[in-house]
Amino acid sequence: MLNIKYDLVAERKAKPDWNNLGFGKYFTDHMFIMDYDKGMGWHDARIIPYQNLSLDPACMVFHYAQEMFEGLKAYRTPVGDIQLFRPDKNIERMNNTNTRLCIPHLEPSDVLDAIKALVSVEKDWVPVLDGTSLYIRPFIIATDVHIGVHPSHSYKFIIILSPVGSYYPEGIKPVKIFVEREYVRAVKGGTGFAKVGGNYACSLIGQEKAEKLGYSQVLWLDGIEHKYIDEVGAMNVFFVIDGTVVTPALEEGNILPGVTRDSCIKLLRSLGYKVEERKLALEEVIDAYNNGKLDEAFGTGTAAVVSPMGLLDTGDLKMIINNGEIGSVAQKLYDTLTGIQWGKIADDFGWTVKVD
Ligand code: COI
Repeated sequence: MLNIKYDLVAERKAKPDWNNLGFGKYFTDHMFIMDYDKGMGWHDARIIPYQNLSLDPACMVFHYAQEMFEGLKAYRTPVGDIQLFRPDKNIERMNNTNTRLCIPHLEPSDVLDAIKALVSVEKDWVPVLDGTSLYIRPFIIATDVHIGVHPSHSYKFIIILSPVGSYYPEGIKPVKIFVEREYVRAVKGGTGFAKVGGNYACSLIGQEKAEKLGYSQVLWLDGIEHKYIDEVGAMNVFFVIDGTVVTPALEEGNILPGVTRDSCIKLLRSLGYKVEERKLALEEVIDAYNNGKLDEAFGTGTAAVVSPMGLLDTGDLKMIINNGEIGSVAQKLYDTLTGIQWGKIADDFGWTVKVD
C-alpha cells in the first residue's frame, strides 16, 4: 500500500454548475504529487491543496518535452458508489509511454492507490448527472535543471481531477471531421503509440486549420504514404463497411492503443459484430461510400466516449455518413459502454473498480 501524506484544505471551493461542466474547465480542491530522484526512486507521495507548481525555468520538461500523461474517469453509479473503468490498462500504457520517453517506471499498484486515494478525498466532485464524470489526469514531468538533451534524473508524478461533461459540445451528436493530407501526426518508430504531450503539440496546426474550416477534429493519415487511416487526435476511429466494423491495427506503432478502443472491440465482438483490426486505406472508405457501403463511422476515446462522425471531408469529397445521424452500431456501443461505466448494466468483463 502506497504511503501517502495528507495536507487537506480547510475550506472547499464552490462547486461548478453541474449542468454546464464542459470539458477540462474546473479542477478539484486537491492534487497528488510524488517525486523521483536518482538513487531514491519514487518517494514522498502526498495529497496537497490544488496549487501552482514552482519550477526552475531550466527544468528539462520546458525544453525537451520529456513529459507524459494519461486520461481516465471516475463514474458515479445509480446507488451512489464511485467506480473507475479499467485503470489497469491506463497504468500499463503509462509505463509503456515511460519506456519510450526514458522515464522511470511507476509501480502499478502505487498508481492505483494514488488515484483511488485522491478520488476518495474528492468524492463530492464526482458528478451525478447523466453523461458527467470526474476526469483523472495523471502526468509526469522531467525536473532536472539542466540545458542538454538526455534523460532527466528527477521527475514529478502528479494527478489532477476535473469534473466533466461531454468532450465535444455536440455531445453524442455526429461531429464533422477533416482529413489532413499535408501534416502528419506519427510515423513508425516514433511516439504515436505513446501518450506524450508532444504528439498533441504537433497536431495543433492541423487542428487549427480544421477548426477554421468549421470541423471538430482532424483525421490523420499515416506519416509515410499519407494513404492509410491512423486516428483522430483525441479518438481512435472505426468504420462500418458493409456490416463489418473495421478499425486501424496497432502494429505499426503510430496509433494510440486506446482503452476505449480495446473495450469497444471486445464489446462489439461480444454483441455479435464482426470486427477487423487491419490497415485501412482512405481510398477503401471512399470506395465504400461511393458504393453505398459505408454504413457508419465513429471515434472512441476516454474523453470522447463514442462519437459518431456525420461528415468526413477528404478535401475532394464531403462524405455525409448515415445521413449525418448516429448509426445503430455506434448507438448500441455507446449505450453498452456507458451503461457499464456508470454502473447501469452488469459488468460481465470485470472492468470496473470501486473506489472506497
Ligand atoms: C482522453 O481521451 O483521455 C485524452 O487524453 C484525449 C485528450 C485529447 C482529451
